[in-house]
Amino acid sequence: MSHITPDAEQATGFPPLRVGVIGLGFAGSTHLDAFTALPGATVVALAGKEPERLAELGSSRRVPHLYADWEDLVARDDLDVVSIGVPNDLHHPIAMAALNSGKHVFCEKPLAINGELAAQMVEAARRNNRVLEVAYNHRRRADVQYLRGYLDEKPLGSVYHTRASWLRRSGIPGLGSWFTSKATAGGGPLIDLGSHVLDIALYLLDEPRAISVSAVGHSELGRAGRGGGNHRVSGGAAGLDFDVEDFTSALIRFDNGSSMQLEASWASYSKANEDIEVELLGSVGGARLHVDNYATSGTLTLYADVAGAPSIVSPDVRVPSGHHKAVIAEFIAAVQSNDHAGHHGEFALHRSRIVDAIYQSILESREVAIV
Ligand SMILES: NC(=O)c1ccc[n+]([C@@H]2O[C@H](COP(=O)([O-])OP(=O)(O)OC[C@H]3O[C@@H](n4cnc5c(N)ncnc54)[C@H](O)[C@@H]3O)[C@@H](O)[C@H]2O)c1
Repeated sequence: MSHITPDAEQATGFPPLRVGVIGLGFAGSTHLDAFTALPGATVVALAGKEPERLAELGSSRRVPHLYADWEDLVARDDLDVVSIGVPNDLHHPIAMAALNSGKHVFCEKPLAINGELAAQMVEAARRNNRVLEVAYNHRRRADVQYLRGYLDEKPLGSVYHTRASWLRRSGIPGLGSWFTSKATAGGGPLIDLGSHVLDIALYLLDEPRAISVSAVGHSELGRAGRGGGNHRVSGGAAGLDFDVEDFTSALIRFDNGSSMQLEASWASYSKANEDIEVELLGSVGGARLHVDNYATSGTLTLYADVAGAPSIVSPDVRVPSGHHKAVIAEFIAAVQSNDHAGHHGEFALHRSRIVDAIYQSILESREVAIV
C-alpha cells in the first residue's frame, strides 16, 4: 500500500508525484529520504542489488514495490518520476528508458560518463518534454546561496579569474570498485568531485561558456593501491583495475575573457583533507568559499577596499545539512510547472562537455577547444 496522504495534495495543490528510486547506496537512500519527506511526492518503487538493504529500506520507508533490476522499475507505467542513484555508467541507459516512456528524471551527477551520452539524454528530455535535473546539491549550501545573492549586487566588479578545487588527503572511494574504473565511472576525482566545484563556480559566475581547456592528470597513488578512503560503496570492491586519475588540474578559458583553475584530487600527500574551495578574483573585490572537512560555519571571506584600505569581511552564515532535499524540492517544482524550458539538463551537459575536454587535454597533452 502506498502512503499518499490527502495532506500532501493540500500542501502543494497537486497530487503527489509517483516516484521510483534506483540505488540503495548514499545517493539512492538520500533520494529516497528526500522524496519521502517532501509533500509533493510519494515513493512507490525502489530498486537495488543488495536484497537485505532493499527489504530494510522498503519496509522502514513503506515503499510497496521492490525490484532487484532497474529495468523492472522503469517498466512500470504508473510512475511520474525516476530517480537515479546508481554507478555513473548506468545513468544514460536508465534515463533514456525513463524519458522515452514519459517519465521525468532526477539523476545523480555526473549526467553521464561522457558528453556524447549526456547530449543524448538532454535531447531525449527535450523531445519528450520531460524534466531532467541533476543532483548538483552543493550549490544549495547556504553559504553558496549567500554568495550568489552578494554577487548579484556586483561588489567584485568583473571577475577575471576563479580558483575552484576539491582536494582530499586520502579519500579514493572504493579502490577497485566501479568508482575507480573508467568504463563504469567515466573518470576519477574530476568527474566525481571536480564536477561539484565546477558547478558551484559556474553557478556563481552566471554560466559563462567554456571555450578551451588545458589540463594535466596523474594517478600515482591510486595505481599503487594507496590513498583509499572510507567511502562505503554498496557493491563493495569488484576487483576492477584502477584506470582513472587521482589528481587533475585544468585551466579553463571562458567566452567572456575570464579563466578558472580547477583542481580535484582523491588523494595526495598534502595538507588538504576534504578541502572544498571556490575563490573569485574581481576587478574591485574578491570572495572566497572555503569548506574545510564539511564545515558548516566560517566558510566565507569577502575582500574589498574600504575607505581605501584593504579589508576583510567574514559573513556569519550557518550551513544546515539537507542540500539534496533542496535540489529535489526544486525538481518537484519544475515538474509541477507546465513550462519545462531550461529544465532538460542543459547546465549539466555544459559541465560534461568541460569534463570531456579536460580528459581529452590530459590524453593528448595539449589545449583543447570546446565547440
Ligand atoms: N551528489 C552527491 O553528493 C553524491 C554523493 C555520492 C554519490 N553520488 C553519485 O551517486 C551515484 C551512486 O553513488 P553511491 O555512492 O550511492 O554508489 P553505491 O555503489 O554505494 O550504490 C550504487 C547502487 O546502485 C545499485 N545498482 C547497481 N546496478 C544496478 C542495477 N542494474 N539495477 C538496480 N540497481 C543497481 C546498487 O545495488 C547500489 O545500491 C553515482 O553517480 C555518484 O557519482 C553523488
